[in-house]
Amino acid sequence: MEILVVKDEYEAGRAAAEAVIEALADSSSPVLGVATGSSPLSTYRHLAEAAAAGRFDPAPVRAFALDEYRGISPEHPESYHAVIRREVCERVGLLPEHVRVPPGSAEDPVSACAEYEAAMAAAGGVDVQILGIGSNGHIGFNEPGSSPESRTRVQRLTPQTRQDNARFFGGRVEDVPEECVTQGIGTILEARRIVLLAQGESKAGGLAAMVNGPVTPECPASILQRHPSVLVVADEAAASQLARRI
Ligand code: GLP
Repeated sequence: MEILVVKDEYEAGRAAAEAVIEALADSSSPVLGVATGSSPLSTYRHLAEAAAAGRFDPAPVRAFALDEYRGISPEHPESYHAVIRREVCERVGLLPEHVRVPPGSAEDPVSACAEYEAAMAAAGGVDVQILGIGSNGHIGFNEPGSSPESRTRVQRLTPQTRQDNARFFGGRVEDVPEECVTQGIGTILEARRIVLLAQGESKAGGLAAMVNGPVTPECPASILQRHPSVLVVADEAAASQLARRI
């Protein structure tokens, strides 16, 4: 695991975007794993700038999102369908028909999740996955206790995660859906490269557990210790509890 500590959100976005561009550069059929939440927003801004400068071509890039809420429509402004449409398609310039988001509204989630996994495999797998980390160490929406072998599936959100995400729903925790569909940990681990962003003091405990703690389902992100190609981009506040800077 390579840890890069940067001074602010701008530098985090720049470093992560450069790592993404480099990871996709050699692929004739590039596949990007995209995340929602606030952490990757400056990465998307930098990718958009790189595209405008002609240093990154979004046209051939296909993308798969990590997760989606259940119980809200894809048209809801805080659905991850909507967030990905705004931040990844409209901002960075990926073509909407090249971008898929997990099937949060599926009536038959088991077969829809299997179909999502099949589409990822048919695309050749993810070249580089952008990740954030939850304050409780979740990746995607894989909450503590998730199996390292888990695949795309329905999950219940913990009270902590619903509380953390209430800020996207006008501060009303009761409006945050109780369930989601998320890529599994086993799914995420198949990405060839992972770029994880962590910013702010609220991520310091989760990041330290991920980097320095035991590999345990209690901190789902800790399984990334076993992945061969992970770049962590953290600001000073998020890095403040790390045992050492590597
Ligand atoms: C959300 C998302 C995750 C995201 C994390 C952190 O619940 N499902 O994919 O990485 O929580 O969000 P943020 O970057 O806003 O802190």
